[in-house]
Amino acid sequence: MNIFIKNLVLILLITGAFSCEKHLPVFTMDQVALIPYPNSVSPSVEVLNVKKIKSIQFDESNSTLVEMGLDLQSFWTAHTQLEVGLKNKAENNSNAISLEVKDFSNQNEEYYQLQMGENQISILGQTAAGVYRGVKTLEQIISLSHLSGVQTIKALPTGTIEDAPVYGYRGAMLDVSRHFFSVEEVKRYIDLLSIYKINFLHLHLSDDQGWRIEIKAWPKLTSIGGKTEVGGAEGGFYTQLDYKEIVAYAQRRFITIVPEIDMPGHTNAALASYAELNCDNEIKSLYTGIEVGFSTLCVDKELTYEFVADVISEISAMTPGAYFHIGGDESHVTPKKDYIKFMNRVIDIVKQNNKIPMGWDEVVLADIPEVTVAQYWAKAENAIMAMDKKANVLMSPASYAYLDMKYDSITKLGLKWAGYISVQKGYEWDPAELVPELDPTRIIGIEAPIWSETLEDFDDIAQMAFPRLLGYSEIGWTKSEKRNWENYSSRLSYHSAILDSLDVKYYPSNEVNWK
Ligand code: ACM
Repeated sequence: MNIFIKNLVLILLITGAFSCEKHLPVFTMDQVALIPYPNSVSPSVEVLNVKKIKSIQFDESNSTLVEMGLDLQSFWTAHTQLEVGLKNKAENNSNAISLEVKDFSNQNEEYYQLQMGENQISILGQTAAGVYRGVKTLEQIISLSHLSGVQTIKALPTGTIEDAPVYGYRGAMLDVSRHFFSVEEVKRYIDLLSIYKINFLHLHLSDDQGWRIEIKAWPKLTSIGGKTEVGGAEGGFYTQLDYKEIVAYAQRRFITIVPEIDMPGHTNAALASYAELNCDNEIKSLYTGIEVGFSTLCVDKELTYEFVADVISEISAMTPGAYFHIGGDESHVTPKKDYIKFMNRVIDIVKQNNKIPMGWDEVVLADIPEVTVAQYWAKAENAIMAMDKKANVLMSPASYAYLDMKYDSITKLGLKWAGYISVQKGYEWDPAELVPELDPTRIIGIEAPIWSETLEDFDDIAQMAFPRLLGYSEIGWTKSEKRNWENYSSRLSYHSAILDSLDVKYYPSNEVNWK
């Protein structure tokens, strides 16, 4: 076809001349409002007519690719109303979507290439994780190519995307302690995170108000400590089977679960479950308020360390990911020397369980080993101290990245102790520059925590997390020189279609001209 005819066909497809349906613009590949934006997009003029795709092919001996193929098959059919078969990989890629792990030497493990031509799509990843990220890009291209009011995709843009993340750790944290969230709700959050290439979900499993994970050696942690939540309603907890189900669900989406047991403060639920964990052997009452900083484990008792060792070993045994988060924040009633002594022993227990210790930034007061990750949330001096101790830093500055902070003065949900975080403020910062003294090479990435003091159900979580989470996904993935608010907010405006289609009750901030 000569170029004139190709362009004519493109225009006809775009304007819907081949059907009587009303169409919104379909974009060329570089105009698709992808988030996070890929690091390289080269559009071509051809159009891919989805009817040409007859199968999804991959190495059938790779069970991970089989799972991806199955998931993509349902996605494709849901959006195109066309059946596609699954088949073993073949030399000929025509009329197929091929998924392939390929060694591009020296590339990031999440590196992928997405090539879309007139009659084939291929996704090549450095590892299966790379292929998965490429599949998510393809799925966004499909979702964002939906035409107004029309369920069925007919045509897709073509070209090549080459992409890899800036940071290896792009996380979200969910506080399931202040209010409990069911396995189904956590899975729904995981599904949404996966769309935006988030690859870690940190679960804040214990706090003053609730202990949320079954520990076989200490059953009262959940039978008593899991009973309630903020406000006094019924709480809940994950059985070990539930937790394993969450881990496996996340793993299939290339998301690693990071479990957190917050210690030595934020432990009232444990202290209300077992009298003997208290220094005075007096059992505490369950707590349903939202104050912080009033509880501490008894640092001088050997039993405390037996308890911690049981908890860390039972959870570590169910956690394939590398990290174990030991909290360590706001231990206001633990004297500093006791805090250090306690955290040093807990770090040793984490290491004995072959996990990498992670803690809120106060953890740097302890003798942290170099592998430790200090999660910067409050004090820049702690993040700097982490660097001095040759440890790594994860960026979660409360005044930029806390999803439970209100957007503005009229936001109903959330808190404001770290200030308001508009969609723009949440987007417009750079982890490598926020604290100038930090060595950017030791920043492992970014995490956006959501604390649930005021958040009771999934819609509340959605209202605070969306759309800001998309900004954190882009900060973690896309090179800073490719990011700017104007361009981002314009792309974000199209994501209402994705969020609406999934019934996500996002905050329709007036900073964005929602489509
Ligand atoms: C925290 O927000 N207390 C880590």
